[in-house]
Amino acid sequence: MLLNNIKDVKTIIQQWKKEGLTIGLVPTMGALHIGHASLIKKAKETCDRVVVSVFVNPIQFGPNEDFQKYPRTLKKDEELCNELGADIVFAPSAIEMYGENTGLCNNELTFVCPAYNIVDALCGKSRPGHFDGVATVVLKLFNISKADYAFFGQKDAQQLFIIKKMVKDLNLDIKIISCPIVREHDGLAVSSRNIYLSESEREQALTISKALFHIKELYSKGIKDTSVLFDSAISILDKNIELDYLEFRDFSTFEKAQMAQENTLVAIAAKAGKTRLIDNIIL
Ligand code: PAF
Repeated sequence: MLLNNIKDVKTIIQQWKKEGLTIGLVPTMGALHIGHASLIKKAKETCDRVVVSVFVNPIQFGPNEDFQKYPRTLKKDEELCNELGADIVFAPSAIEMYGENTGLCNNELTFVCPAYNIVDALCGKSRPGHFDGVATVVLKLFNISKADYAFFGQKDAQQLFIIKKMVKDLNLDIKIISCPIVREHDGLAVSSRNIYLSESEREQALTISKALFHIKELYSKGIKDTSVLFDSAISILDKNIELDYLEFRDFSTFEKAQMAQENTLVAIAAKAGKTRLIDNIIL
């Protein structure tokens, strides 16, 4: 069932809650692909009712980012959600979510500001304000859906970490379920932004996951020094790829890791042409 307004969603959820049903939320920005499908399937396995939100959230995009261009495929998204047995597809407008505050700056809206030491790293460095926008919309979606469980992909590892921390720090009654990265047959991490890639850019982009797999292989052979792992990964990246970062972080504290070990996050962001891609592995 496709719903656009918050009141209708809340009315249905209230009824489900009365019946003692568990609710799973899959927050998305639409342009759904097999990665999202895996989250919806997991939500179906875990919960009695599943809400998929489809909302291209304006407050998490910077002024020079792809908010206008971001793919919007609501009809297809709804079909996929129905096929997978989602109970509600919640696709609000920006006005529905933020009222008339469409200036959407901190002067007009209450924002959630995640911990600076995490936000000031990786994607947060080159996307100022991005995670404030993510945390804000995610908290709103948690409140609207009253979900017991929310499902996020490991591909956005920093986002996942920030949301888990927000849940802990703000004592939210919701369990965050992290789902593995879904990859194309050749290893490229599935992303809504992959459709921007030309054939040659896709070839270049493929070296991002290759670099990560190379790190994993070296690590399994006993190489733990992250500067050695970094250098050998860089040599795998296509020379046309514009690297934003390749970093090693402890995935339980988010601190930089000098020596790789179990639970080290290896995260990369890079541009192929104009398309910014992210990927990661956890050792
Ligand atoms: O990962 C995404 O698609 C978005 O950041 C999210 C979590 C749906 C918030 O807009």
